[in-house]
Amino acid sequence: MCGIIGYVGNKPVVDILLDGLKQLEYRGYDSSGIAVECDNQIKVYKAVGKLNNLREELSSHAYEISKANTGIGHIRWATHGVPNVINAHPHTCNCGKLAVVHNGIIENYKELKQKLEALGCVFKSQTDTEVVAHLTAMNYAKVNDLKQAVQLTAHEIEGAYALAIMHSDEPNKLVVTKRNAPLIIGVGEGEYYAASDIPAFIQHTNNAIYLKDNEVATLTPSELKIEDSEGKPIIAKVEKLPWEPVALSKMGYKHFMLKEIHEQPDVIRNILAGKLRCSDEPICLDEVKLNKDSLKKLNRIQVIACGTSLHAAMIGKYIIERFCQIPVDVEASSEYIYRSTVTDSNTLVIGVSQSGETADTLTAIKQAKAKGSHILIITNRPDSAMAREADSLLSVNAGIEVSVAATKSYIAQLTSFYLLALYMAEIKESHNIAEINKIKQEMLVLPQKIEQILVNKDNIKACARKYSSTRDFIYIARGINYPTALEGALKLKEISYINATGYPAGELKHGPIAMLDDTMPVLSILMNGSVYEKLLSNSEEAKARNAQMIALTNSTDKKLDELFDFIVRIPDVDEILSPIVSIIPLQLIAYYIAEFLGKDVDQPRNLAKSVTVE
Ligand code: F6R
Repeated sequence: MCGIIGYVGNKPVVDILLDGLKQLEYRGYDSSGIAVECDNQIKVYKAVGKLNNLREELSSHAYEISKANTGIGHIRWATHGVPNVINAHPHTCNCGKLAVVHNGIIENYKELKQKLEALGCVFKSQTDTEVVAHLTAMNYAKVNDLKQAVQLTAHEIEGAYALAIMHSDEPNKLVVTKRNAPLIIGVGEGEYYAASDIPAFIQHTNNAIYLKDNEVATLTPSELKIEDSEGKPIIAKVEKLPWEPVALSKMGYKHFMLKEIHEQPDVIRNILAGKLRCSDEPICLDEVKLNKDSLKKLNRIQVIACGTSLHAAMIGKYIIERFCQIPVDVEASSEYIYRSTVTDSNTLVIGVSQSGETADTLTAIKQAKAKGSHILIITNRPDSAMAREADSLLSVNAGIEVSVAATKSYIAQLTSFYLLALYMAEIKESHNIAEINKIKQEMLVLPQKIEQILVNKDNIKACARKYSSTRDFIYIARGINYPTALEGALKLKEISYINATGYPAGELKHGPIAMLDDTMPVLSILMNGSVYEKLLSNSEEAKARNAQMIALTNSTDKKLDELFDFIVRIPDVDEILSPIVSIIPLQLIAYYIAEFLGKDVDQPRNLAKSVTVE
């Protein structure tokens, strides 16, 4: 994880680095630092905690660094070594002439550290990154050229990395390289940026180059040179970036999470546009590169993902099995990669990821690809590493999601699963067309139903207030909304730190019911349909143990008033589509509870938005 940025040009660099790091805070925020070139020296400034602490630290050095216009910056999510000033990046070599920022993990750092210590290097931090500083400085002493020194270093280090390195003997220059971690170069007028992600520089330029693995780029204000690992020059393609800076503003909302929750109706509309126009026209999904024959030959589908994306995948299983009659397995990527999986050319492997960079999912996808499976990626980042592995790419177009807690990307993934399942069912002719058309008709009105919930959210807020002092929370559901219970619980625990768990309600009596008493809220996701009565009786069982009962329901049944202490009612919707609507109040409950508790909603502790380490 972590985020890096670098700049060479003629503008004052400090604000460029700080503003860029602000946009990368989703990648980590436990410490930060910058290195800038001043009067032929490299000056390093670091701080623990949020970026504001670094800003404060820099304010007392404002004059001495005001003229600097070359520098690198880093925002950290600790992997090796606790978050403190010493472990914060940039790291320097012993003479202080070379500074490096790094995103990723150097896997062979222990061996390298031993070797470098034997050669006289003195390590200050507990990080894996510091080996890069010492090793590159050693290489520099041999070749007296920063680019060559970095190339030598890249041959010796193993693991995943994006690196930006500067040396005071080569002023106005940065050398950057990457392997299995993102690094994008922003191309301006007489200036270049290098960063882990586009938002770090998009307010300055939307011309960019995606550096490829093992390429080494040398950036000066007047020139950009890229070479492959053997030193062969590369002519890189400059791409126009699609995203506008306005996407990064809170647009008047108190938090990005709240803004992103409110964007969900439009997210659905955007995805449906051009793909599902009306109920009696077939779904158009040209992105799926499987023809009718290969779709018919599919013997199974594996879906791999992590966290919230995994919950979307679990709902995807229900939908695909229902409409397409193909067995679907869903697995956490981190488990998938450490067992021998049965995959072949008749297996469709679907990777689901907001960021498209999650290390475990990326590795799982690569493993499946090597076995000859067709790889379909559902992601919010069509420019990501996962997207580049895709045979079929479903880009969900939810726009940049800043809040660490995923909301609109989840809705976008779900919508994509519905489109995919219905599309495959239409091609395979595996399901009754009248029912497919009915579902398509309902999908078109989902945005209005979500808008109704968002407009009438006072009751949801009241529910959050009533239960905000609880220490534990249980969510129960059955069938297609069981993953909704998991996702509702995940949202609550990640931003409020309340211990929340989702259960398939039928499992309650096999153990968890022992926890119930009058201090335990149990939220029942009670949607009209096949499991309504079953869940109602599971809720009765919980009530009989004095639990505080909350219903999230689309039923108008008055009897519920007796059973439940609090009821959140939402518009009615077909059971199969209900996960798209039922998650909205759960996102809001999590949001308001965290808000009432004064938690850092958009940047919860210990988390980062993009998990690029295993
Ligand atoms: C929770 C959340 C995480 C991510 C998970 C996978 O709100 O955001 O659980 O869903 O880290 O990330 P992606 O989808 O980027 O692969």
